[in-house]
Amino acid sequence: MEVKTSLLDNMIGVGDMVLLEPLSEDSFIENLRNRFDHNEIYTYIGSVVISMNPYRSLPIYTPDKVEEYRNRNFYELSPHIYALADEAYRSLRDQDKDQCILITGESGAGKTEASKLVMSYVAAVCGKGQEVNKVKEQLLQSNPVLEAFGNAKTVRNDNSSRFGKYMDIEFDFKGDPLGGVISNYLLEKSRVVKQPRGERNFHVFYQLLSGASDDTLKKLKLDRDFSKYNYLSLDSAVVNGLDDAANFRTVRNAMQIVGFMEDEVQSVLELVAAVLKLGNIEFKPESRCNGIDESRIKDKNDLKEMCELLGTEQSVLERAFSYRTVEAKLEKVSTTLNVAQAYYARDALAKNLYSRLFSWLVTRINESIKAQTKARHKVMGVLDIYGFEIFEENSFEQFIINYCNEKLQQIFIELTLREEQEEYIREGIEWTNIEYFNNAIICDLIENHQNGILAMLDEECLRPGTVTDETFLDKLNTICAEHQHFESRLSKNSKFITDHSLPHNCFRIQHYAGKVLYRAEGFVDKNNDLLYRDLSQAMYKANHSLMKQLFPEGNPAKVNLKRPPTAGFQFRASVGTLMRNLQTKNPNYIRCIKPNDKKASHIFTDSLVCHQVRYLGLMENVRVRRAGYAFRQAYESCLERYKMLCKRTWPHWRGPAREGVEVLMADLKVPADEFSYGRSKIFIRNPRTLFFLEERRRQCLQDLATLIQKIYRGWKCRSNFLLLKKSQIVVAAWYRRYAQHNRYQKIKSATTVVQSYTRGWQARKLLRELKYQKRCVEAVTTISAFWHGTQARRELRRLKEEARRQHAVAVIWAYWQGLKVRREYRKFFRANAGKKIYDFTIQRIMQKYFLGLKNTMPSMSPVDKSWPAKPYRFLDGVHTELRRTFHLWRCKKYRSQFTEEKKAVYEEKLEASEIFKDKKALYASSVSQPFMGDYLEISKNPKYQKLNSAVDEKVLLADVVNKINRANGKGTARIFLLTKKSVVLADQKTGQVKASVPLPDLTSVSVSTQSDGFFALKLKEGSASAVKGDFLLSSEHLIEIITKLHRTGATAEDSEQLNIDISDEFLVQFKHDKVCVKFIQGAPKNGNSVSCKRKNNRLLEVSVPTTA
Ligand SMILES: Nc1ncnc2c1ncn2[C@@H]1O[C@H](COP(=O)(O)OP(=O)(O)O)[C@@H](O)[C@H]1O
Ligand SMILES: [Mg+2]
Repeated sequence: MEVKTSLLDNMIGVGDMVLLEPLSEDSFIENLRNRFDHNEIYTYIGSVVISMNPYRSLPIYTPDKVEEYRNRNFYELSPHIYALADEAYRSLRDQDKDQCILITGESGAGKTEASKLVMSYVAAVCGKGQEVNKVKEQLLQSNPVLEAFGNAKTVRNDNSSRFGKYMDIEFDFKGDPLGGVISNYLLEKSRVVKQPRGERNFHVFYQLLSGASDDTLKKLKLDRDFSKYNYLSLDSAVVNGLDDAANFRTVRNAMQIVGFMEDEVQSVLELVAAVLKLGNIEFKPESRCNGIDESRIKDKNDLKEMCELLGTEQSVLERAFSYRTVEAKLEKVSTTLNVAQAYYARDALAKNLYSRLFSWLVTRINESIKAQTKARHKVMGVLDIYGFEIFEENSFEQFIINYCNEKLQQIFIELTLREEQEEYIREGIEWTNIEYFNNAIICDLIENHQNGILAMLDEECLRPGTVTDETFLDKLNTICAEHQHFESRLSKNSKFITDHSLPHNCFRIQHYAGKVLYRAEGFVDKNNDLLYRDLSQAMYKANHSLMKQLFPEGNPAKVNLKRPPTAGFQFRASVGTLMRNLQTKNPNYIRCIKPNDKKASHIFTDSLVCHQVRYLGLMENVRVRRAGYAFRQAYESCLERYKMLCKRTWPHWRGPAREGVEVLMADLKVPADEFSYGRSKIFIRNPRTLFFLEERRRQCLQDLATLIQKIYRGWKCRSNFLLLKKSQIVVAAWYRRYAQHNRYQKIKSATTVVQSYTRGWQARKLLRELKYQKRCVEAVTTISAFWHGTQARRELRRLKEEARRQHAVAVIWAYWQGLKVRREYRKFFRANAGKKIYDFTIQRIMQKYFLGLKNTMPSMSPVDKSWPAKPYRFLDGVHTELRRTFHLWRCKKYRSQFTEEKKAVYEEKLEASEIFKDKKALYASSVSQPFMGDYLEISKNPKYQKLNSAVDEKVLLADVVNKINRANGKGTARIFLLTKKSVVLADQKTGQVKASVPLPDLTSVSVSTQSDGFFALKLKEGSASAVKGDFLLSSEHLIEIITKLHRTGATAEDSEQLNIDISDEFLVQFKHDKVCVKFIQGAPKNGNSVSCKRKNNRLLEVSVPTTA
């Protein structure tokens, strides 16, 4: 954040009018204009802030700005309302001085805005915390509520405050807000019933009608249309830039934050609605027979709705609008009201109702925001009171408002102009008096207790007899005629007799801010502020608690016949209180100036500004400031602040403070005309000098800081050095100790080594001696042991020898005894005992053998090969014979179970075994295969019926065989049939007989020794069958075929025994050639099949795979 260091930096014109050169009205205005054109709306006159209304929002109220101005000197930054607020707040917090912010200026000059800015600044910089924030929020939110009910659009200002407001904000010792109290001054209630052209009623009416929900409006019996209500002026009902509907929501929200209950808000809105309804009640004249005019309500609908809203009886209100009861001490007199009186009564009720409602709101807000603790607190008062007003037609209200402004000007004069000048005199400063206009004389004209205008108005109002505004004006004319500031056509002062700008029914007052023409009409009435008792009683009767509170005088139990104090009297009293209050506080001024009459931004009307500058007395203000001194300070605090600027006063000055300051000033060579010595204070003429002092002080503080820093650094370095030194000694000590320790350790270990060597040598010597001794002892022991051993062994040998001898003696003795006994008994024993013992023994063994065999007999299966082990060798023969016999017996037993067929089968198998066993390898695999004979079921299968019938003998064997082709060795399937007489080969498919060989034609059959199924049928040479040569066939049932062939051949009566030739090479007669068929063992190829190949004319090779 860039921080401006001085008011003088980047200044447009001059920021402080005190510095203006040359000082004249023109240059003053020019400076304001110049600054205004550059958006610099704030300018100082010393500590007074002049604020020009920019009529547009400027970006100078941001939180950053707040931070910038926070805790800064007043003259440090460019002029701003925040600087004043900060100064006031800090002075309150730090110096315990109650403050007041006096904001003055014409209507529309920006007072209310300024007061809000001050409040928001203070809220932003003061303490934070939940409780504090709530208080702040309530204080800030009281504004929208009061503005809705108390502000209205006027020709000067779209948001003009129509009441005076003074708010005391209370703080605790820390500067945190505790609460507040609001005082309100004289609401301009005539606005409720009538508004000047181009103006509006109070905002709340428009806000309610545009912002409330349909539901709410229905409850309040209202219509959204403004034109339905007599009290609402229509020509400026809608204001540019004012969103009534949104504002209504803001107000509702604000009321909630401030602490209004929902039913309270409702009651308030009901009363607002009631005022609107009241305006719509109209009267019509009705002549009575006694000639007196009475009034009647025209249309009772509005009255009815209003009564419903307030819970009053219609008849009661109706009566109150028609009659007036005057109570004298004992009697009551009722008179009827004519139409004009009825309207008067209606409007009086509306005005009273509204202004009382407003006061109630202020009281209610105060209740919420009042400080919760009773602890002593500091106060900051913010006064935002209606500004000076000059309208086309000025009435009682303007008179009062302007009176109030006169009083404020008084305060200003008192505190800035007079007070200041008096201080110079008090302090004995040479001083030439500055002339300024003191408006005390005008205040006196208005408020003097004997002949002041207000006093005379009261007198008229209280006087019996007919009292009118004219009689009041007459009275003024007589009494005030001589007053310099009072002007009237009819006064005895002949000056104005010809002044046509002054109508007869008016009087004019020369206020400090200009002349104002007041119309006397209405003064008496407004001062009286009469409300017929019938009406207040009717209101009190209403079934509406808020209403009852607002009209306490309507309570019949508390009839008070005394007249209430007049409005003027009340106002004078409250203004008096306010002034006394302000005088106890430290004032801070904001003087608001309005740049033009059009509420427009960027327009600066010289004449208008000039007028305001004049009546606000700003020029005099500057002059007093300039002739006087910009700054003053008690000697003690001055010396305390600047004593470091001079060697003699620094650091201590022993003498009186004043002398110290003199020494200081002389030393600093401040020009003598720049300051004066008062009795207790020094007065500095120019802020420049002050800035000079402050700047020197700042530099000096920097130097001091450097000095302190230097000394501190020196001290720090030195202590650091000392510390280092100390630590160095410690380190050195430790190191030395460590080094010595190491050396000692080395010497110690060397000593130990030497020692150990010596000891070792000694020990070894000793050991040697000891060993020698030990060996001697051992040698002795060994020698003695050997000696003893020798002795012992000798003894042992002797003992053993002795024992042997004894044993030998015993044996010899026994033999001798045995011999003697046997010689004696031989003759009895030898005859038969030996044979008997032998027989008996053999018998016993045999018996045991046979009984044992019986128990361990093997099973009856002929293939069981087990047999018990032989027990004695002498039984070998018996054992083998028994085994053979048992086997034969069990085979016989087995055979005896066979049937005839089975027997035949076994016979066949037996024959096969005789032929092939151990001769052909194929045999082994055939043993387990039963011989089935007819594999083709030839007699049953219809396919072979023809073939069957062609063979007349019984078929012994039918099978499919392969006939080997003589040319290439390939096989062709043929049916092979064997009958008792012949062998038949037939086509497998057709069953046609291909060859039929009678058995006698077969000479021999040749087969190999291997596991193949090849066989050759050799035919008798010269027989009919042998024409085509021998047959080379192969079959899966070779063993069966050959066996059957052999058996059949053997049984046939006319054939010779069939030869069976088993060899791996045989000759076969193929037509004319003899071909050798040779069987070789080959590696298994194409599965396990046998392959046959014609090798050459003479050789046919059959390769049989080796069987595993
Ligand atoms: N500092 C400001 N910045 C912007 N606009 C301002 C400022 N002061 C005043 N105004 C404008 O001027 C109008 C009138 O100001 P207000 O404070 O209500 O006047 P007063 O209270 O003196 O009658 C405001 O509604 C606002 O539009
Ligand atoms: Mg205002």
